Amino acid sequence: MTDILDRVKNTALQAKIVTAEEAAQLINPNDKVGISGFTPSGYAKAVPLALAKRMESDPFQIDLWTGASVGDEADGALTRVNGIHRRFPYQTNSDTRKALNSGKINYIDMHLSAMAQNIRYGFYGDLDVAIIEAVCINEDGSIVPSTSVGNSPTFVSQAKKVIVEVNTSQPLSLVGMHDIYEPINPPHRQPIPLVTPGDRIGTEGIPCDPDKIVAVVPCDITDKTRPLAPIDDDAKAMSHHLIKFFENEIKEGRLPENLLPLQSGVGSVANAVISGLAEGPFTDLSIYTEVIQDGMFDLIDAGKVTVCSGTALSPSPDGLKRFYDNIDEYRKKIILRPQEISNNPGIARRIGVIAMNTAIEFDILGNVNSTHIMGSKMMNGVGGSGDFARSAYLTIFCTNSVAKGGDISSIVPFVSHVDHCEHDTMIFCTEQGVADCRGLSPVERARTIIENCAHPDYKPMLTEYLEKALAETKNAHTPMLLGEALSWHKRFTETGSMKK
Ligand code: COA
Repeated sequence: MTDILDRVKNTALQAKIVTAEEAAQLINPNDKVGISGFTPSGYAKAVPLALAKRMESDPFQIDLWTGASVGDEADGALTRVNGIHRRFPYQTNSDTRKALNSGKINYIDMHLSAMAQNIRYGFYGDLDVAIIEAVCINEDGSIVPSTSVGNSPTFVSQAKKVIVEVNTSQPLSLVGMHDIYEPINPPHRQPIPLVTPGDRIGTEGIPCDPDKIVAVVPCDITDKTRPLAPIDDDAKAMSHHLIKFFENEIKEGRLPENLLPLQSGVGSVANAVISGLAEGPFTDLSIYTEVIQDGMFDLIDAGKVTVCSGTALSPSPDGLKRFYDNIDEYRKKIILRPQEISNNPGIARRIGVIAMNTAIEFDILGNVNSTHIMGSKMMNGVGGSGDFARSAYLTIFCTNSVAKGGDISSIVPFVSHVDHCEHDTMIFCTEQGVADCRGLSPVERARTIIENCAHPDYKPMLTEYLEKALAETKNAHTPMLLGEALSWHKRFTETGSMKK
């Protein structure tokens, strides 16, 4: 077993060091198990792998709760042994995606900021076990998380028993990067005392009564972060459009010279947009976001960032190496918080976040689908996009105007699933341009979105739909052809193309 004695500073807890297999025996069938992890960062690895192994010969299921997506050692391994009955609140694993889209896992897709409080309110029942990856355990039992915080503080405070994986692949220089704060429940909740992105309001470790820790497990399995797609011309174009848009907002007096705190969603497009800002004219930027991807490191390295607050590092494998190699510099700028705080809608509204998230598709009325392919198949989940979209100072949704080599228009008459409704959206961006829909009626929005965002191949079809809808509804407030609104998706599923 890897020696972790120097990382377990509470001597009573040193006596509880066991193997992952022994710790996995502490989990019972039908347990609700909350594991650390947010994106494939800082997730429990050794115990979920050992649990999956145990389930191979002794089949049973658990409910699996996380911060967000986690690595294959947890989601993938447990899915492949049919070990997950219910899964909260976000995933990106291909095996898990298949299982939840074929009725094998009950998946609940929810706003990530809300999960911790919903657990404390008792909405999901009692949490039996928390499994938390840590860089070390302090003398007082407090647990210092690793590359993500996610829901771990609430898992620790609410679970009946806690298992800690002390991961020696995670450097001790992570100590001091976290800021742990857990609000109390209404009616006693106080305002969260955070007014600028760099404020520290909590503790460096997750408070934990050492008696609650039932096992400490050595682990040296590394985070398996996912590669990001290379930044292509379309992503560069979106980044360019947004820089121009921000410059105009400054000129119009609606944004300060250094913008407002930036939030950028998951995925390749969001990463490219942030990366593009590194070459943009803005300096002294602050970031108040959920995941910290490679683009953020580009911005920090370009000397453009004063502070970068998030709940998880979510770089590519190269980005993770870059982070570890320069951790002493990055730790001066980066703060990792619980997702309840990083994604808090009240804070997003208070500090005036500029939210930039990626859509799968949006419609001419301004509704956004972030989660479902052709209405039915769950891709990942809504994640934090809704936490920020509704509450941000400026809300921007980006996507390529077409997908699947042009057979799909990402701008459609009506989205096949609504995650963000017209009331929560403002600005849309594709490689074609930016549609600023602030203060526009549904028909004005439709014309603006078609004009600025749609691909030239689909513009005439969208205009034809809109004019027909206006004629048939006699210029109704929200012109909609009930029989045709989803016909583009139907055509794609039947013919392989949305084109007529
Ligand atoms: N219709 C159908 N499929 C589409 C599509 C459309 N309009 N647009 C994209 N796709 C497909 C792509 O072809 C790709 O499919 P593939 O995996 O078979 O290649 C897939 O969707 C992902 O698209 P990609 O261009 O690789 O996007 P991405 O990596 O930037 O991710 C989201 C985009 C929307 C899936 C991702 O951002 C997400 O999960 N968002 C929701 C959560 C979120 O916003 N979190 C932010 C928190 S702060």
